[in-house]
Amino acid sequence: MNHNETTDPGTGSALVPASDSSDHGHELLPASLVRDADRFENPGLPAHVHRQADDDPKAARRAERQVATLFGLSMLATLVFLVSYFAIPDESVFFFPGIGRAKTQNVVLGLSLGFAIFLIGIGAVHWAKTLMSDEEVSEERHLQASTDEQRAKAVAVVKEGVESTQFARRPLIKYSLGGALGLFALPLGLQVAGSLGPVTVEELKHTIWDPKDNGGKPIRLMRDPEMTPIKFDEVTNGSVFHVMPETLQKYIDEGKHVLEAKAKAAVILIRLDPNDIKVQKARDWGVDGVVAYSKICTHVGCAVGLYEQQTHHLLCPCHQSTFDLTEDCAVIFGPAKRPLPQLKITVDDAGYLVAPEGFAEPVGPSFWERAR
Ligand code: FES
Repeated sequence: MNHNETTDPGTGSALVPASDSSDHGHELLPASLVRDADRFENPGLPAHVHRQADDDPKAARRAERQVATLFGLSMLATLVFLVSYFAIPDESVFFFPGIGRAKTQNVVLGLSLGFAIFLIGIGAVHWAKTLMSDEEVSEERHLQASTDEQRAKAVAVVKEGVESTQFARRPLIKYSLGGALGLFALPLGLQVAGSLGPVTVEELKHTIWDPKDNGGKPIRLMRDPEMTPIKFDEVTNGSVFHVMPETLQKYIDEGKHVLEAKAKAAVILIRLDPNDIKVQKARDWGVDGVVAYSKICTHVGCAVGLYEQQTHHLLCPCHQSTFDLTEDCAVIFGPAKRPLPQLKITVDDAGYLVAPEGFAEPVGPSFWERAR
């Protein structure tokens, strides 16, 4: 302890004056904090600059008169308002170049009231800037950190707590608890790795449009919710169908997992003029202008349900992603990052629309790494 140090009566720790400067006041600080504080130089406050009105009584009186003048002008404007209210006839109109006719009374009332409040504001600001006190004031912060002794005490309390559990002295408990906790982490890992959704793009691609779910046969497109098949010639130009695969019927009949089966399978079927379709693949995967796309938005999975017949745009109502049907459902607006996946369709021997294969890419939000 050097000659400047003393001892904290509460903790018994070494304390020294913060410094001889006024940076820290005359408070006694723990020696470790003083060492830290001494590594930095306090730049202090900039020198105080006195205003003219602080030192010169004449300037102060001048400022006082200016403020009073501004308040007086405000009073005048208010008087103009009061007089105009009664004096200007209601029917009097005024022609403003570029604006047109306006009631004279409204204009005068508005302007006078506006000036009245404006002048009060200007007067108050001028008063504050020239006459009110502008002394800089600083407030010292209290110490934030605990003293070394308080910290040591806290550590001792924790150690005492650990000691009281007899954890260190009971290896059987120590190791069995370690084993229990270690093993407990395994089911969590398994849950994450194995159960929180499909892990490959192939699995993500699978929907009940996959012909494997239909004995390898093409799957008929069914009206939703009637579950009746759709003939190609029933789809007129501009018409829209909400479509489900015929494989859904099995789930409906069994009354199990219907919603899960429907969730990824929703499709929108639209017919447009084949000449409006600009992308060859979209034409090849459709039938004479009849095209089918996943209804699940590629942003975060809302149902894309709005079709603008004139522009051939499909809109998602959730965050306004907009897909262009003529460009293979490319995103032309909104947060979605990829086109709606197209479902390849054709016509079977009986004239019904069928999907010969499932989706070529996963439907819905793109939360996995993709090449496109
Ligand atoms: S879910 Fe469709 S735009 Fe967000």
